[in-house]
Formats: sequence, structure tokens, C-alpha cells
Amino acid sequence: MAAASVCLTESDAHQTLTLLPPKDTALRGRVQIPGDKSISHRALMLGALAEGETKIQGLLLGEDPRSTAACFTAMGATISPLNSDTVYVQGVGLGNLLEPVDVLNAGNSGTTMRLMLGILASHRDRFFTVTGDASLRSRPMARVITPLEKMGAEIWSRHGELAPLAIRGKALRPIHYRSPVASAQVKSCVLLAGLLTEGMTTVTEPALSRDHSERMLRAFGAEIVVDPETTSASVKGPARLRGQTVIVPGDISSAAFWLVAGAIVPGSDLVVENVGVNPTRTGVLDALKQMEADLTLLNEREVAGEPVADIRVRHSTLKACTIGGDLIPRLIDEVPVLAVAALFAQGTTVIRDAAELRVKESDRLAVMATQLTQMGATVTEQPDGLEIQGRASLVGAEVDSYTDHRIAMSLAIAALNARGTTHIHRAEAAAISYPDFIPTLQNLLEMTS
Ligand code: S3P
Repeated sequence: MAAASVCLTESDAHQTLTLLPPKDTALRGRVQIPGDKSISHRALMLGALAEGETKIQGLLLGEDPRSTAACFTAMGATISPLNSDTVYVQGVGLGNLLEPVDVLNAGNSGTTMRLMLGILASHRDRFFTVTGDASLRSRPMARVITPLEKMGAEIWSRHGELAPLAIRGKALRPIHYRSPVASAQVKSCVLLAGLLTEGMTTVTEPALSRDHSERMLRAFGAEIVVDPETTSASVKGPARLRGQTVIVPGDISSAAFWLVAGAIVPGSDLVVENVGVNPTRTGVLDALKQMEADLTLLNEREVAGEPVADIRVRHSTLKACTIGGDLIPRLIDEVPVLAVAALFAQGTTVIRDAAELRVKESDRLAVMATQLTQMGATVTEQPDGLEIQGRASLVGAEVDSYTDHRIAMSLAIAALNARGTTHIHRAEAAAISYPDFIPTLQNLLEMTS
């Protein structure tokens, strides 16, 4: 058996991940994953807005939560150094954020920018400017500007919807917003704006998106009403938030890379530990089960208001399936790696109703189609999805993450089942949500080769 080769090279401030998987490798053992990105953002934000101290255990130390921490530090919250996954936040109390003296930079993070806009718009008599990196400055913000303006917010933007943005905080009025997209970022933005707004602020979405904001707002003391029948959530303002202890479970979106790796690499048997299995996030498990992946949930438990389990995955023969409809918001970030799983299934997998992927950190439909095609796959791009021919025979190639973390990691998983060497350019993007992805991959391959 040849030794695995995983190496990183740097040039022009970017890193290339070179991956030559050993022949007949099987991935075996236990994998630990980083904290959930969505929950990490919310814990930092609510901690900053609450009265008193919030203790966060298991915080994701990735670049996106670091952007959130930097923004709220600039507005007066004290956040202990982000060099350990237990972090303390001294909040300022709702309504008491300071006007920052400089531009707030959300980096690559859509969650930071969209959720924070709801908070800023409702902080009256303060002026804020917000920007992000090149990817974030090209992503649509009208989806949050529209409901905030209905609440009376004052926001200026490029072309009516792009960052940099300027906001003058005001006393807002409550609304019932019927969102055209199932988006937790939109829902959370409006609910956060509702915290300081007198009365009931309600969001109805076309399908249920992740509900971490509702769960955590309630734990911090806000009055939250959810109606699963109408997929609506309401907050009563003005609210008071009190500091809490938050235990962040592992991110199922990060676990998904190992679940797919274990399912497609022959002979594999992996246990991914401490995975958050909130039902609004487990679409990836449903899709893999539809594909007849061999998954077992072990040691199911509830940790600080969120369901958690260890997940065992063993290699099996996968079958093609159709992924669409209400399942999409429950696996929105896992579509790229599910496309990789589909390459090794019998039949043609169809992913549809997923046009939202075009406005993520990259156009994930276009990028996955072109990059997997480079590796010898047959993937057809549709306006709202992908058609992926299974039983692919992949070959190593030069591919690019387009600076999108989930693309970088999905291509690395595809490379595990490719013949020859794959070079993934701009692989440093993985650190946005999974700083230890490459060392973990290296360990798994070394342990098993
Ligand atoms: C997130 C919501 C999703 C997801 C993103 C994180 C959140 O975005 O893609 O990675 O933390 O609320 P949308 O709400 O735009 O679908």
C-alpha cells in the first residue's frame, strides 16, 4: 500500500493542497469536529447584547466567528481572547452597543453581516458602516434591507443591495414579514431587530430554516413564540437578555465531509463525535440515508438545548436520489459534498430547488459543476441545481476553491476517490469554518495507510 501524501504549499498569500490518496485506503477511527458555526455566531452576538457574563464552551475558532467577535468588540463588548474554545463575553445590555469609530468588517461571513444588520438598525441614534471581503460585498443584502426598511430602518447600500452599507439606528416598528426565501439569516435578522422594538415582530418563511436563533434567544430570556404549522417565529419586544452558559455542539456541516468520505471510500468505518443533530440541520443525514448510506446515530443526547449524537458511517454501495423541496433548507450548506457522494452512487442524482446556492460564498452550483468536470465527472448544471452521473471514475486534476471553504473541503473529499494527484488551489479557505480540516485529513490518512 502506497503512503498517503497530503501537503500544503504557499504562493501569493494562497495555499495549494496537494493530495495523493494511498491505493486501497480505508478511513477508520474516530473524528472530532469543530463547533457549530451558526451557533458560535449567535452565542457571541447574544452574549454581547446580554447583561452580565456569557460563557461559551466549544466555540468555533474559525475566521467567520472571529469576524463577529471583532465587530462586537468594536461596539463595547468584552470578549476573552479567542485562543481557547472556552470564551467569556461581558455583554453591554440590549440597546447599549457603542457607536464604533471605524467600519465594521464582517470578512467572509454572511451570517455576521445579515444578523448584525438587524441589531444595528434598532440601536437608535447611532451610525454604523459595515463591509466585508470581495465575496461578501457581492452577495445580496436586499433580502434583509427590505424587511428592515419595512420596520422603519435607515440603510444606504451600493445599487440598493450591496455592501459597504451605512445604517443609522432608529426606533423601529414591529412587522409580520413573509419572507420569500427560507433563510435563517433573514429570519434571525428580523427577530434580532424585534428585540428592541415595542410589540410582536413575526417572520413567516416558506419552509423551516435552522432554528438556532429561536432556541438561543429563548434561553437568554427573550419571549419567543414559534408556530411550526405556519413556519413562523415571533419575538416580543422590548426584551431583556441575561448572560448564559452556551455549550456549542460540533457542526454537522463539518461532520458532513467525513460522513461522505466514510460512505464513498471502500472499507471505511468512521465515528464522528459530538455532532449537533438539530432537526432543522439533519437534511444531510436524510439525503445520505435515501442514498442507502450506512449511518448509525449513537449516544443521542441533549446538550444545552440542542440535540447531539455521535455518528458512525461505514462504506456501502450508494444509490442515486433526488434532493429538493423542503429538504433543501435543511441541508443547504451540504449540497457541495452531497454532489461528491452522488458521483459514487448508482444512477443519476438530481439536486433541484437549490438556486440559493448561487449566492453563497461562491456560486456553488457553477463551481462544483466546473471543478468536478475537471476531475472527469459528468455533472450538468441546471438553473436551480445539478444532475450528477454516478459511478464516476475520477482523476486527479488542478482545481480551485474559488475562496469558498465548503468547495475546498468538498473537492478534497472527491480527491480521496480519484486516481492520481489533485491540487486544490486557494485551499486556505477551509479555515473559515474548519481550521483543522487539513491536519484531520492528514491524520486519518496516516492512521489508515
Ligand atoms: C446560516 C444560514 C444559512 C447557511 C449559512 C449559515 C445561519 O444561510 O447557508 O451558512 O447561521 O443562519 P441562509 O440563511 O442564507 O440560507
